[in-house]
Amino acid sequence: MVELENIFAEKVGNYVLRRCSIEDLKKVISINLITLPENYSDYFFEDLLKSSPESFIVAEKNDEIVGYIMCRIEYGFSNFKRFNLSRKGHIVSLAVLENHRGNKLGKSLISSAVNALKLKGCNEAYLEVRATNDEAVAIYKQLGFKITSVISGYYRDNEKANLMGIQLMEQK
Ligand SMILES: CC(C)(COP(=O)(O)OP(=O)(O)OC[C@H]1O[C@@H](n2cnc3c(N)ncnc32)[C@H](O)[C@@H]1OP(=O)(O)O)[C@@H](O)C(=O)NCCC(=O)NCCS
Repeated sequence: MVELENIFAEKVGNYVLRRCSIEDLKKVISINLITLPENYSDYFFEDLLKSSPESFIVAEKNDEIVGYIMCRIEYGFSNFKRFNLSRKGHIVSLAVLENHRGNKLGKSLISSAVNALKLKGCNEAYLEVRATNDEAVAIYKQLGFKITSVISGYYRDNEKANLMGIQLMEQK
């Protein structure tokens, strides 16, 4: 029987966005290694897929995976309301292969993941991004994210991170 939740698929030009499956992880891990200095163990990817499958999304063209986004749902202090506890969707990693960029895949992956996080009851979504990553910062801003703080020395090479967030639901 097909699970209803697995049916999610969205067309973006000649690409399709769909939920990641365990068989896709090898390719997702290779895209992560090629595109970002922040890499993780295979177990970490598997764990995110198990714990937050709705917001682990891949972009595909002709059966080839060319991009992904993966998130984790956390409980902690709100990035918007001081001292309030919040259910937060953490965008852990996002990447699109270089020769497929500029086709709105980045924006569409973020929008789809944020929608999924909202459906899972998250009050807000957030991420860390290198302060010098103008393209990613611009995309998140276009989608309504705001820089809520700057964390100095966040990355291993000592670069600053922008903490960016968006409110999804009014908190009580
Ligand atoms: C960030 C990334 C995912 C974007 O993917 P993408 O598929 O090219 O994104 P989109 O096509 O949806 O959007 C690209 C937008 O960035 C804009 N852009 C490109 N370079 C830019 C720059 N230097 N400064 C500001 N905006 C820039 C484009 O004009 C486009 O906006 P538009 O649609 O309004 O014209 C991709 O560049 C990537 O994988 N980078 C390496 C990994 C990374 O940095 N991940 C993010 C970490 S948080």
